[in-house]
Amino acid sequence: LFTGPIAFVKSAPTMDDLPPANLPEVAFAGRSNVGKSSLLNALTARKGLARTSNTPGRTQLLNIFDVGEPAVLRLVDMPGYGYAEAPKKMVDAWKRAVFDYLRGRANLKRVLLLIDSRRGIGKVDEDVMDMLDSAAVSYQIVLTKTDKVKESWVAKLREDLPALLKRHPASFPSLLATSSEKNHGIEDLRAAVLGAAKD
Ligand code: GTP
Ligand code: MG
Repeated sequence: LFTGPIAFVKSAPTMDDLPPANLPEVAFAGRSNVGKSSLLNALTARKGLARTSNTPGRTQLLNIFDVGEPAVLRLVDMPGYGYAEAPKKMVDAWKRAVFDYLRGRANLKRVLLLIDSRRGIGKVDEDVMDMLDSAAVSYQIVLTKTDKVKESWVAKLREDLPALLKRHPASFPSLLATSSEKNHGIEDLRAAVLGAAKD
């Protein structure tokens, strides 16, 4: 499915600009520069579908992609959070857009919460997890850039996770470890996205 037809639908600045809630949606969230757009490209085996960048904060809108022809699933590339130099106005705009989206989107099946393997889960990530818990949106942790760390480090993150997730009722228990660069974990990610869409 993911390597077949995929259409960029639009970039939506607010909830009001989203397409109708007529397809199961899976959204990619995470700190800026964590690798959301890259993972979306790896998932769909396309280099330039979602724009990637070294400049944090590149993705500013909700970018919508429809998968399949006819479309059976929708992917949402979300703007990154936690960018240190982001002006307060931008941070507030992000929070508002995302809160609205998370709370108001009935067809949102799961959020993939991307975490840079090198950093692990930080305070801003936990804030977003709290937000997802209160919106009762199911979310799954996806480690990115595993090519940048040792396998033993990924194993440690995996071990530490259950204790942390216990405090987060809407979290999905299993963790995905991925590298867009090396194409690792991408098949598991595809299976997770399909599974989420069917929930
Ligand atoms: P924003 O849209 O700004 O929030 O960023 P993003 O989360 O979409 O990150 P993006 O995909 O643009 O990637 C940010 C940087 O990380 C780019 O320089 C990518 O090449 C790099 N990157 C992404 N995934 C990987 C990976 O798996 N391994 C390595 N080594 N680098 C990666
Ligand atoms: Mg991006």
